[in-house]
Parts: sequence; C-alpha cells; structure tokens
Amino acid sequence: MQICVVGTGYVGLVTGTCLAEIGHHVVGVDDDRRKIDTLKAGGIPIYEPGLDELVARNRQEGRLAFTAELKEGIEAATVVFICVGTPPLEDGDADLSAVEKVARRIGELSSSYKLVVEKSTVPVHTGMWIEKTLMVYGHREQIEFDVASNPEFLREGTAVSDFLHPDRIVVGVEHPRAERLLLELYEPIVNRTFTCPVHTNCRDAGPVPFLVTDIRSAELIKHASNSFLATKISFINSVADLCELVGADVELVAAGMGLDRRIGRAFLNAGLGFGGFCFPKDLQAFVKIAEKCGHDFRLLREVDRINQARIRQMIRKLRDQLWILKDKVIGVWGLSFKPDTDDVRYSPAIALIKQLLTEGAVVRAYDPKAMEKAREALPSLVCCQNPYEVASGADALVVATEWREFESLDLMQVKGMMQRPLILDGRNLFDREKMRSMGFEYLGVGR
Ligand code: UGA
Repeated sequence: MQICVVGTGYVGLVTGTCLAEIGHHVVGVDDDRRKIDTLKAGGIPIYEPGLDELVARNRQEGRLAFTAELKEGIEAATVVFICVGTPPLEDGDADLSAVEKVARRIGELSSSYKLVVEKSTVPVHTGMWIEKTLMVYGHREQIEFDVASNPEFLREGTAVSDFLHPDRIVVGVEHPRAERLLLELYEPIVNRTFTCPVHTNCRDAGPVPFLVTDIRSAELIKHASNSFLATKISFINSVADLCELVGADVELVAAGMGLDRRIGRAFLNAGLGFGGFCFPKDLQAFVKIAEKCGHDFRLLREVDRINQARIRQMIRKLRDQLWILKDKVIGVWGLSFKPDTDDVRYSPAIALIKQLLTEGAVVRAYDPKAMEKAREALPSLVCCQNPYEVASGADALVVATEWREFESLDLMQVKGMMQRPLILDGRNLFDREKMRSMGFEYLGVGR
C-alpha cells in the first residue's frame, strides 16, 4: 500500500520504517527540514536500537523515502498517519495545534481519497475534530475522507519489536472501508507473514489480536493503558514505602503479587518513579480531559502526586545519611528516563540532579547514551567519561537509571575510589546482601 506518515519523531519514524519493512511504500514527512536532511543523508535523529539498520535497508530497497513537503508525501498515499507531537500545555492539557494544522493541510492538499489515521497520543474527541477539519478545509466535494484512531503502544528502546510484535492492534473506525484498509495494512503483522528482522520464531505465536472499536473508545484505550501502567508503578512505590517502615522487601512482595496472572509482575518495579515523554504527560492530559467532561479522576491525580514525591524521598534518604548536602560530592549513574534510550525528557534522574544542585551539592554524572541530551537540558551538568570517574571522591553514589552496563562494573574498584562507599540504589539494580558483604553502605528502595 502507499502510505504517508506525517511526523518523523519516535512514533512516526518507527511506524513508517516498520510499515516499509512489512512491504508497504512509505513517505515520511516532517516540516523540520534539518531532520529530513539528516534522514536523507542516512542519519537517524533519535537513538532507538535496531532502527538505523531498518531505515537504511528500506531506503535502499526503495520502500522508504522522506520529504519536507506534505503535498509530495500525501500525493500517492491512500493512508495518511498523523504522528506529530502533542506536548503538554501549561495546564496539563495536550497541545493539539500540530494535529489540527496537519489535518487542515491534508484537507487542503488532497486530490484523492485518504484514510487519515491519528496515531499521536491524543485526548478523546480528537478524531471527531479531525473529521470536521477535513470536511471544512477539504472543500472539493468529490474527495472523500475517512478518519481512524490507531493508538501506538511502543516503548522507547524496544519500539521496533513492539511495532512488529504487538500484544494487540487497536483500530477505532466509523466506516467499514477504513476497517478494511487498516486490516489489509496490518495483515502481515496480524498473521506474522513477513520475514522478521528481530525474532526468528515469531510465527509460532499465533495471530495478533486485532481489535476494532469506535474512534472514541480507541482514543480512550491509549490513555487508559498508559495511566493504568503508571498506576501500577505508583502503587508499588507506595508499597515500597510501607516495606521500609515494616522491614519487608518490595522485590519479594512484587514477585509474590506478580505470580497472580490477574496482576502480572510487569511494571511493579519500585524506584525513582516513572518519567519519559509519555506517562507524566498522558496522565495529566487524561485527568484534564476527564475534568473537561465533568469527571474528577482523583485516582490518577494521586498517582501523579505519589510519583512526584519519589524525588523528595530520595533527597530525604541522602540527607539522612550525609546530614548536609551542600558541597557534598554526589555521583549519579544514569540520566535517561529508563535504560536503552538517550531520552531525558521528564527523566527522574534529571529532576533529582536539579534538586541536588539546588541544595548546593556537587554533582557528577555518567550515562552510556544520554549525556549529550542531558547537557542540553541541564547545561551546568558535569559529565564524566565513565562510571568509575563518577565514583572517584564521591560521598555517595545514586543509581538513577538501571543500565545493564552498571551491573558488570568492578564494584571493588568503585568502592576503593569513593570518599565514602555509600550507594543509594534508586532502581534496585544491585543485590543488597552482595553489596553489603563487599563493604558498601547500601540503600535500595523498599528493601
Ligand atoms: C510507555 C508505554 O509503556 C508504551 O506502551 C506507550 O506506547 C508509550 O509510553 C507511549 O505512550 O508512547 P515508554 O514511555 O517508552 O512507554 O516507557 P516505559 O517502558 O513504559 O517506562 C516508563 C517509565 O516508567 C520509565 O521511567 C520507567 O523507568 C518507569 N517504570 C517502568 C518504573 O518505574 N517501574 C516499572 O516497573 C516500569
């Protein structure tokens, strides 16, 4: 099929590339010319494991192209995905101006039928507004449009695999034609008929559930899913606080809970809390849209409040150990909001460092991938060449992101370099007993 993907950020680039990978012809559009130039020159503006190879191969094989001109991108396309950003406004609402602008331009520029699919994370009712916008600006009456909602469930770091092997595909449609087109588009993924670049034995897994709903329900599925996962995290973090008070171990509690198939072990890792450009903003946007519709989503406001308190709690723990933070050297391992990404947006690590700097501490940090982006967010940040340098002379070391690299370090060397062998493991990366037997003063979360 001929497809256009508008927006070449995380969602757009992964979507476009993976759709090309399963055999479609895709044009990626972005009005950021620098991004398009980078892509045309063979570069990738983001770090996402496996994506560079896929982009290069599909471009080479002629199934993937990029342009800064929307008209050129949509010309031959039957399906147009909107994957532009929906950043938070001051009041927590999602800024939908980019979505509106793209919908308007698609209306103005189309000269043939288009199925316009919203993939950006958007509040309920956005599909209805896109439909109205297409009708108003797509004034040539002979041209028909359909609108669909097709939320993405991609995690940064595993986005390619998540796209090609999803737990489910959700499409919200109002017209059977839209349903037919989307089923045809996703057929290779649903029936696992493409040659997978990530897993070799995926065909054994059976077909991927393809859930067809109305547009509003599909929009809600996205926000409800992210908010539910965030709720699990805040729940286990509250349990972790209780564990510390009663002398229990949250890792064991999570293991025991997770064995119940109705609960599951995933997203029950206690720690510094959730960050990234999805959970914090989606949670706020969901609360906001509920409020606008007359529903007070108190539960989610509490989830957010618990999450924000994680940083304060970590500072308190440091203060309990070091008494005064001013002029203390604190090393921080990890800057990205989670491992395997260079993304530092809403990263708990960055929030923690900002607070430490406000308290007058001397902070030194290291991250395998995110130092460049962290320096853009926090220009005064002192970054080190490696994790050992961070430890050198430190009064305490905080593990803020659970990169695997940290697990394989020579911890005796780390200990020998520190001013005081105090480790605050904000992600419960290390084994407590082992750390203590090595002579560290070790504090985890909820243990
Ligand atoms: C999340 C969802 O998992 C995706 O399904 C969704 O498509 C995406 O948002 C989106 O809306 O685009 P992502 O933000 O990449 O994906 O990251 P997650 O792996 O979900 O982690 C989010 C945050 O929660 C991270 O800061 C992570 O450290 C934290 N987390 C996760 C915990 O603190 N504990 C856990 O048990 C799991």
